[in-house]
Amino acid sequence: MNSIINDIEIIKTKTSKINEVDFDNLKFGSVFSDHMLECNFKDGKWQAPKVLPYQPIVLDPSAKIFHYGQSIFEGMKAYKDVDENVWLFRPLDNFKRLNISAKRLAIPELPENYFMDGLKALLEVDQEWIPKKDGSSLYIRPFVFASGNGFHASPADEYKFIICTAPSGAYFAGEVRVLIEEKYSRSANGGVGFAKAGGNYAGQFYPTQLAIDKGYQQVIWTDDNTHEYIEEAGAMNIFIRINDTLITGPTSDRILDGITRKSIIELAKKEGINVEVRKITVSEVVEAAKNGSLKEMFGAGTAAVISPIAGFGYKDADYELPKLDETYASFLKKRITDIQTNKAEDIFGWRYQV
Ligand SMILES: Cc1ncc(COP(=O)(O)O)c(C=O)c1O
Repeated sequence: MNSIINDIEIIKTKTSKINEVDFDNLKFGSVFSDHMLECNFKDGKWQAPKVLPYQPIVLDPSAKIFHYGQSIFEGMKAYKDVDENVWLFRPLDNFKRLNISAKRLAIPELPENYFMDGLKALLEVDQEWIPKKDGSSLYIRPFVFASGNGFHASPADEYKFIICTAPSGAYFAGEVRVLIEEKYSRSANGGVGFAKAGGNYAGQFYPTQLAIDKGYQQVIWTDDNTHEYIEEAGAMNIFIRINDTLITGPTSDRILDGITRKSIIELAKKEGINVEVRKITVSEVVEAAKNGSLKEMFGAGTAAVISPIAGFGYKDADYELPKLDETYASFLKKRITDIQTNKAEDIFGWRYQV
């Protein structure tokens, strides 16, 4: 690994858990590595980050995170190639997006070197936790929340920035059937949908459970105003293939600027696939399903990279997608994961060696 800034204090655990972990049977995000990065904001500035043993956080019951939900996060992955080099994928984009989220939630923005050097220090200490098995990776969860106290509905004066990591196996969602949402919304114009704010996800749980109760696995979010425009698939961006054109909605106040989404757009264009970034209506998708021009729908995000959709429900009717031998979904997923894991040339400069 390349050198990191020297002034990050590192306190190592005396009791590593690594031998208790079955690296051949890793579930997503449920086993946590030995260490975490912690950085506190107090007295008006971010204090030096530290690597500490993974441990509980002690907070006052009046901490503002519990009352006003000032909380943001990121999701990214580290990969090990066959030579045990460690790679990240577009990590500066995660850093920038964390600060976009911070600004919207009135959380103080982080300096770039605290994020990047802190992350590199953590990965160096826990490098044995980065799985080597094909398809596996170390899921990285940076987050920031209000740790300052008080019942005043105002921004806190203290915050914690923490990074935890979780070795994770290949993510297969299986046959995903989705319900196009007609009533609930995950975000609204002028709201926080473009930020990775914790509350966005809390607001999704109830409508998602209603969809699960009806036999679907996920919700397709539509715009809050008319419910006529397709926006996101659960906590993923969405792509729709009509004939040979790949369509995704433009990012907005309501749609997260996904790193997988923008990588797919660039990659697909480079591969000669016709890509349209434009609003797409539910009626257009239903019509395409009826006339046979709807070929594929898939979600795109860091965890699954690409998650194909097998069918969707809308207004009490169900629509099946065709089972194609060759899909844009599997082609693009392979191209992206090959770049991420250093199996293919990276002409875009997305891969980042740690
Ligand atoms: C709401 C939402 N949309 C899209 C994405 C996909 O973003 P990315 O590709 O950066 O993981 C995520 C996950 O981060 C998300 O939470």
